[in-house]
Amino acid sequence: MGRDGVGKDGAVPARQESAPISRRRLLGTAGAAGAAGAAGLIAGGAAGAGVAAAVDAEPTALATVGSAHIPFEGARQAGIVQPAQARGHLVAFDLVAGADRKAAAGLMRRWSDAVRTMTAADRPAAPAAYDDQVAYDAGPSSLTVTFGFGRSFFGRTGLGAALPEALAPLPDFPGDRLDAGRSNGDLWVQVGADDALVAFHALRVLQKVARDTASLRWQMSGFNRTPGATPHPMTGRNLMGQIDGTNNPKPADPDFERRIFVPAKGSPEWMAGGSYAVVRRIRMLLDDWDHLPVARQEKVIGRRKSDGAPLSGGTEFTPVDLGKVHADGSLAIAGDAHIRVAAAASNEGAAMLRRAFSYHDGIGADGTPDAGLLFVAWQADPLKGFVPVQRKLDGGDGLSRFLRHESSGLFAVPGGAGKGEYVGQRLLEG
Ligand code: HEM
Repeated sequence: MGRDGVGKDGAVPARQESAPISRRRLLGTAGAAGAAGAAGLIAGGAAGAGVAAAVDAEPTALATVGSAHIPFEGARQAGIVQPAQARGHLVAFDLVAGADRKAAAGLMRRWSDAVRTMTAADRPAAPAAYDDQVAYDAGPSSLTVTFGFGRSFFGRTGLGAALPEALAPLPDFPGDRLDAGRSNGDLWVQVGADDALVAFHALRVLQKVARDTASLRWQMSGFNRTPGATPHPMTGRNLMGQIDGTNNPKPADPDFERRIFVPAKGSPEWMAGGSYAVVRRIRMLLDDWDHLPVARQEKVIGRRKSDGAPLSGGTEFTPVDLGKVHADGSLAIAGDAHIRVAAAASNEGAAMLRRAFSYHDGIGADGTPDAGLLFVAWQADPLKGFVPVQRKLDGGDGLSRFLRHESSGLFAVPGGAGKGEYVGQRLLEG
């Protein structure tokens, strides 16, 4: 599901937008933060002479991956329309006993301030506030942090009247094998970055900042292909080997906004510009899958494995022709093919933006890989996105025989914070 390519499918090319930051420019900014910071930037803490030599040299661009910067502030939170980064952490917190609405507001303020600093374009110049130095020498590396509220948050903070209808619990799907301890939660945090240390550091800072107000409920870590690993930008592959993310709604689609984001005059008002995230840890039964010949695997999905082209013909981005039949009368895209069963056309227009991370947590107790997809689906209303599609997939999809949904969460992700604001302010102070 995660895309490591940009442009081709219309996704917002945030990572490529920002020009590389030269070390000279960083130094200029770092001057204000003190010489120690500057030295760390250039030579990992080298002494003064080393700094001078580096200053005299031609400016060297901080690598594109490190300098790419996605602003924290905006009408929408970052980490939804941008391509999924190479590293991701999905984390849920529960408020500690006695933490009320005021405490929750304080936490969202502290979290937002921390993320504002860590995602800043000149972040290496200002490490002092969060100075464990784990990410000291790196640029923002497309870091995004996205915050959401689970249904239980509203009861705990006395905000029941503000609970969105769309946060009704997801229905039970017969195929689910959910672990309650790794599902739901009061608060949800999605961290993504193209550098593993930057992603870890952000998560660590958020955990420290939460101390005394919220404690960790569950954490899942995932990955996607690293930008630059392929000769040209491409849609990413999942751990089954398929090109995944091709037929996602595109920001250029006329109905993209309406499908993915709550409108400005939507309900409840505090969710304007927000979206709902369905989060599922979906284990892939890889040993079973890998035994299938490639031609069978392709039939299960409805697309060619090598290049993602639909079995109805053409190349990766050729529109799927669900009506196409072969000369012998058989459907080009099988009746139970994943892309037929999941298609908007088969679900009264239901659509979602899939933005996932792969995960691999070693070998499970049964001796098979504990690996799969940290599936995150974004939509303006889960009842018009994930729910009808999953109802149909659960049982009717050829792929479901090779999957196991092991955890689940649904979170209301409010719009972004403006200058000086924190995420969720309209809910917590409304
Ligand atoms: C590990 C689990 C899953 C895997 C490996 C997987 C894989 C894929 C692949 C390879 C495609 C074709 C390329 C593309 O258009 O992205 C696809 C399409 C799609 N998938 Fe999944 N998928 C998974 C779970 C789900 C779930 C749980 C849902 C929703 C409930 C879903 C909804 C969709 C949709 C809507 C499409 C686009 C269909 C179209 O209109 O062409 N997928 N998936």
